[in-house]
Amino acid sequence: MSDDVFTLSGVSREYRSAQKTTLALDDVELTVRDGEFLVLLGPSGCGKSTLLEILAGLQRPDAGEVSFRGDPVTGPRAELGMVFQDPALFPWQPLLSNVAIGLELAGVPAKERERRALAELERVGLGGFARAYPHELSGGMQQRAGIARALAADPEVLLMDEPFGAVDHLTRLQLQEELLALWAERRRTVVFVTHDVGEAVYLADRIVVLSPRPGRIAREITVSAGRPRVHGDPELLARESDIYRVLREIEDPIEPPEWMI
Ligand SMILES: Nc1ncnc2c1ncn2[C@@H]1O[C@H](COP(=O)(O)OP(=O)(O)O)[C@@H](O)[C@H]1O
Ligand SMILES: [Mg+2]
Repeated sequence: MSDDVFTLSGVSREYRSAQKTTLALDDVELTVRDGEFLVLLGPSGCGKSTLLEILAGLQRPDAGEVSFRGDPVTGPRAELGMVFQDPALFPWQPLLSNVAIGLELAGVPAKERERRALAELERVGLGGFARAYPHELSGGMQQRAGIARALAADPEVLLMDEPFGAVDHLTRLQLQEELLALWAERRRTVVFVTHDVGEAVYLADRIVVLSPRPGRIAREITVSAGRPRVHGDPELLARESDIYRVLREIEDPIEPPEWMI
């Protein structure tokens, strides 16, 4: 079997409205390899979420091919777990039911889903909060619950869209550590979207930098620092400055309005 989880070739996606057309992705070629931690990085609006949703089968490209382990992606599939910036837990349900929701949809019997949901909550350090409601938890804890929910179905691939974007910096560092520990334990493939350069180099084996308008792959950067990663490692700092250089190159020129010209 091939080592590639996803293969994308010539992928383009356009959003059309009455006023304008936005070319969100233009001719994207990308391979996601088995077991890697891949980061999609780029400024806001460069098409990161669109690309992730195409991988997830939540959106179809207008052109190009997307395959998952050699099969065309035609819709969402059980092998993929999604984590969003807002975990969107159901406020009227305790954590255990929130985490078990995917298993319920998959028809797993009640006892079994409770057991698995509890095991996932324990794994993310929330074992004592199974009966708590989302509003009783901090933002970081809610995000952990979102990760537990995605992991409960034991997906082969975790697709994460700026999952730590809404928590404070120290919590974010802690969640990064926890995610790396989970990843090291299970060695699943992760595709992680962020616009934070420090976060990208700390987590990634490989970083794909996207440029905006239209969204294209500007550069691929491999981070070869060993693991566990150490903040301030010279290799990480060197890759950070590579990325800042690329980001400066792809910066949108700010065009003056017509009346000024
Ligand atoms: N549903 C939509 N309708 C119209 N335009 C959209 C829609 N979703 C995204 N876009 C536009 O497509 C581009 C890429 O968006 P997105 O994939 O969300 O980027 P990112 O996640 O990198 O911020 C942006 O210019 C955005 O405004
Ligand atoms: Mg986005």
